[in-house]
Amino acid sequence: MSIWTQRHVTVVVSGGIASYKALILIRSLMKQGAVVRVAMTAHAAEFVTPLTFQTLTQQPVVLDEFTTTDPTHVVHVELADWTDVMVLVPATANLIAKVANGIADDAATTTILATTAPKFVVPAMNSHMYANPATQRNLQQLTADGLHVLTPATGMLAEGYVGQGRLPEPDVILAWLTDQLIQQSADLPLAHRHVVVTAGGTREALDPVRYISNRSSGKMGYALAQVAREMGADVTLISATTNLTAPVGVTVVPVSSAAELLAAVTDVFATTDILIMAAAVSDYRPVDSASQKIKKPADHADLNLQLTETPDILKVLAVRKQNQYMIGFAAETQDLLVNANRKLTSKKLDLLVANDVSQPGVGFNGDTNQVTLLRPNQEPVTTALATKTAIARIVLETAIADGANKQA
Ligand SMILES: Cc1cc2nc3c(=O)[nH]c(=O)nc-3n(C[C@H](O)[C@H](O)[C@H](O)COP(=O)(O)O)c2cc1C
Repeated sequence: MSIWTQRHVTVVVSGGIASYKALILIRSLMKQGAVVRVAMTAHAAEFVTPLTFQTLTQQPVVLDEFTTTDPTHVVHVELADWTDVMVLVPATANLIAKVANGIADDAATTTILATTAPKFVVPAMNSHMYANPATQRNLQQLTADGLHVLTPATGMLAEGYVGQGRLPEPDVILAWLTDQLIQQSADLPLAHRHVVVTAGGTREALDPVRYISNRSSGKMGYALAQVAREMGADVTLISATTNLTAPVGVTVVPVSSAAELLAAVTDVFATTDILIMAAAVSDYRPVDSASQKIKKPADHADLNLQLTETPDILKVLAVRKQNQYMIGFAAETQDLLVNANRKLTSKKLDLLVANDVSQPGVGFNGDTNQVTLLRPNQEPVTTALATKTAIARIVLETAIADGANKQA
């Protein structure tokens, strides 16, 4: 299930050099579960054939309704009424001008005028066309009329020079659309809930250039943040250093060490409804962090590091816990259930997600995971090996089944 599942999306394609990118966006929308139909302008059909869109969507394309032989339907009204979400992509300067002025002189613009569905506009054009006062005026009019407009990207244009007007990449458009849809959906299970997720492996500095860390990639935490956002939550992602891109619509708090992570979680704990501690927090840190780079001693003697325990974050929070639903993670290489159960009880957790990281495809770094979910006084549940996104969904659905989204 995603926010797109079974959603009727009408993509209106107009005639720009980026028309082909609408195909990639449509594929992504369909992958997310949307049912997509296309209306295109005659000029768009000069760039990409209706047959391509028709084959991809497995739906008839609306292009020229005046030559239709079906007497039972008024094509644009039927499509307009069918639509849950309308996306104009790419939106040419011409299409924007028409929509801003209520012009309906072909099937595409008539369908736009006839639908009451929310409309999302993704402009793409030459930078001078975009900067033209007429285009800017028309875009402002669209916003004033309640349409949602994505700002074009700046970069190399088809004309061979750099400027603002490029169609953002399809994954950026999809992320924007998804976030817009989430903002408009009050009935999502985690709407108005504050979910805090920690992610990644903390770094404990030895000196200005070296640190002790672990193999955590942050992928599980980022997947949890994304799915919580898709379920409507206000998400704070407290992230140790990773190579990942944060999901759109999520507030990111970057941290490095365990101490910084504790401070960041403490800051938001009072307003937290669900806390998910997916970060791999270092258990130990060097007693001294040198202010200058540690040099090799002249006599090549061994270097001894003295380590001291970092704060036990869950233990600190367990004392302050009020109505927060707390989810911990336990990565183990042996005695999974014994160790995990101990952690569940001692940290007063509501849910513990345990994984045996010695198994192939499980835990750190990869895109898949297999976990056992432990809750107080309940039988453990072991999932199948699945993507981290799928596991994230199971974790959050389990929390919701426990009423985590209902707590005051
Ligand atoms: C090769 C070529 C590329 C074009 N690219 C764009 C573009 O990226 N954005 C745009 O607004 N217009 C672009 N145009 C101009 C539009 O095709 C033209 O304004 C047309 O009337 C738009 O019709 P439509 O909005 O009904 O599809 C391009 C024209 C040509 C010939």
